[in-house]
Amino acid sequence: MASSNGAAQVLVASNRGPVSYAVEDDGSLRAKRGGGGLVSGLSAIGPDAGALWVCSVLSDGDREAVRRGVGEDGVRMLDVPADVHADAYNGIANSVLWFVHHMLYQTPLEPVFDAEFRRQWASYEAYNRAFAEALAEEAARGAAVLVQDYHLTLVPGMLRELRPDLRIAHFSHTPWAPPEYFAMLPDDIARQVLRGMLGADRLGFLTQRWADAFTACCERFADGLGRTRIGVHGLGADADFLRSRSREADVEERIAALREEIGEGRRTIVRVDRTELSKNIVRGLLAYRQLLDERPEWRERVVHVAFAYPSRQDLAVYRDYTAEVRRLAEEINERYGTPGWRPVVLHVRDDFARSLAAYRLADVALVNPIRDGMNLVAKEVPVVSEAGCALVLSREAGAHEELGEDALTVNPYDVVETARALHEALTMGPDERAERTERLAAAATALPPARWFLEQLEALLHGPASR
Ligand code: F6P
Repeated sequence: MASSNGAAQVLVASNRGPVSYAVEDDGSLRAKRGGGGLVSGLSAIGPDAGALWVCSVLSDGDREAVRRGVGEDGVRMLDVPADVHADAYNGIANSVLWFVHHMLYQTPLEPVFDAEFRRQWASYEAYNRAFAEALAEEAARGAAVLVQDYHLTLVPGMLRELRPDLRIAHFSHTPWAPPEYFAMLPDDIARQVLRGMLGADRLGFLTQRWADAFTACCERFADGLGRTRIGVHGLGADADFLRSRSREADVEERIAALREEIGEGRRTIVRVDRTELSKNIVRGLLAYRQLLDERPEWRERVVHVAFAYPSRQDLAVYRDYTAEVRRLAEEINERYGTPGWRPVVLHVRDDFARSLAAYRLADVALVNPIRDGMNLVAKEVPVVSEAGCALVLSREAGAHEELGEDALTVNPYDVVETARALHEALTMGPDERAERTERLAAAATALPPARWFLEQLEALLHGPASR
């Protein structure tokens, strides 16, 4: 797989890379390119500028691609042993660090930091070391390395030891836990995570709130930030891409199909998420049920279009959550549905074109996470919306810092308040809805992915080095 042979000037490191492979029945490899802010951000410079993306093998197809030496220019996949990756990704990153930063643990059952946790932590260290070594091997003298997310918190410190000449940044795409919650981690682990991050010259966060929480953790568990600088970069939606992609033929087809499912003349409440505990899909359905209960006038007149795409299905807690989402959607349909009206239209197969179709049709978007680093759905809907869309938005989403003024704010735990916000959103006049949507779209696109990426790169290369 592509290696720069020590010549890369700009390196990105993340668990999930921009491309993944599947082995077809005839043995050939099919490449699937991913989307998202980092992919479009990095395309602002691209491989011709000496950029290299280091990521992990995530599937048998990826492993086969590495074995056959196929791959994309500018991407190097690390063939980390499957059991090490499973411990690091499922065990530590997604079951511990994700839960800490999103404050998802529920006592009395969790968390338990036992011998199994320590064993998995050793894999997390090995996983981070594999990245640090690959980056040290690929980076040109004085190169810029931009490490992403909670999977790779130890990389900056490890890489700093291997290559003191590099400029190193780390960016967190998640919230950061407040110190009282972060304190749940065993002391030595909490310190190791912070020391790993503080190996960077510069740390990036999506909002000031998460940056402040990180700083507070450093004050409590380390000797402050030392010489590491902190920056806030609120990733925005990619307006050009979204506007043109949402006009393509496959999106038009999905619109026609969705219209059939919704039925003539009905209002639409849309949500699009990975089936992720922090997204709070179950309470969203409970709020919708409350709306139908409290406001019978909406029965037959509204449909909740809920897309809950599969995520992290290796973890039992995610599988159980997915099952609960399905069960509750069915329960609502059985309880309130009539021969001509299905109150909840739930889709669980990932389909980006269908998501865009729903964005275009939405009268109301429901974005109610318990905690979320940013939440790009809240930013994408106003950009794509056809006739204006009222946004019901959790105060705990990072996006609320930028969009709060024109959204209907909810406490994500309060389903009665959320039901009332849904009612208010559904009854908002068309002019007000259109005006708010316009302002939301402007705020949502203030920092498009390419600028978001270049802004960080500039600050890393031209700001003072931490050492
Ligand atoms: O934004 C946080 C994040 O964990 C990303 O790092 C990740 O790519 C995305 O959510 C989806 O999660 P996963 O890679 O586990 O499917």
